[in-house]
Amino acid sequence: MMFDYRLLHPRFGVEVVGADLSRTIDESGCAEILEAFETHSVLLFRGPILDDEQQLAFSRWFGEVQVSFSGNQSGATLFSRQSNIDMETDTLMPPDHRQMKYQEGNRLWHSDSSYRPLGSKCSILSAHETPPSGGDTAFVSLRAAWDGLSDDMKRRCEGLSAMHALSYSRHLTGFSLTPEQEAEAPSALHPLVRVNPVNGRKNLFIGSHASHIDGLPVDEGRRFLGDLLDRATEPAAVYAHAWRDGDVVVWDNRAVLHRATPFDATRHRRLMQRTTIVGEAVLTL
Ligand code: OGA
Ligand code: MN
Repeated sequence: MMFDYRLLHPRFGVEVVGADLSRTIDESGCAEILEAFETHSVLLFRGPILDDEQQLAFSRWFGEVQVSFSGNQSGATLFSRQSNIDMETDTLMPPDHRQMKYQEGNRLWHSDSSYRPLGSKCSILSAHETPPSGGDTAFVSLRAAWDGLSDDMKRRCEGLSAMHALSYSRHLTGFSLTPEQEAEAPSALHPLVRVNPVNGRKNLFIGSHASHIDGLPVDEGRRFLGDLLDRATEPAAVYAHAWRDGDVVVWDNRAVLHRATPFDATRHRRLMQRTTIVGEAVLTL
């Protein structure tokens, strides 16, 4: 092994110690990192702040980088920017700014791009400016969530699929997409139970984009999804990452949920830069 690993949470996530992403990592280093990613679902790297080229070079080891959704400040590029800083003026955006309202959706547990037909394999988020307190990103493992279900609940999930839609999760925070954005973000059906293509580990696949269950009355499906989400995100299951400038976190969008947490956005700057890797056809068992 080239690197050392420190557990972030008893059930998932590791810090990779000794890998400097601002330098080129050779093929065997990357193979080790990719294997750790499949095993642990969340990887943390601490180091100097990455520039965009360095982040793209690292991201491409995981697969094809997705073009971002147009609602984001960096929309229609290879980056999504999570920030309270206006890119044009470099000043803080007021809380009622449409971009701030759009980003409120990040406070709900979600898997990035699960409303797209291929979803996302993983996201890579780098911290450029972090507030003195708050603004953690919280994660839960959907493998742990699956393992924790009773046999009866597991049987109820098998064979079901959920419809994921960005307009649904945004509606939960009182935000409406424009008609053009609605057309750009069609909904997608994904099995409730999926399997990691490398190691065969099973997990639940839910989150706030999941609006209802195919073939069930909307209310009933929604209640079932809500119940599963509550179980998956119980406090002991959560790893909350407290960011330092230069941190990079890679998370498996197929197998974890994440959400943003509040900070004083009217006083402090926060700038995070995300690349998102295109997903793959889902394996079920
Ligand atoms: C994201 C996201 C949460 C955060 O980048 O996909 O949900 O804490 N970020 O900024
Ligand atoms: Mn996200």
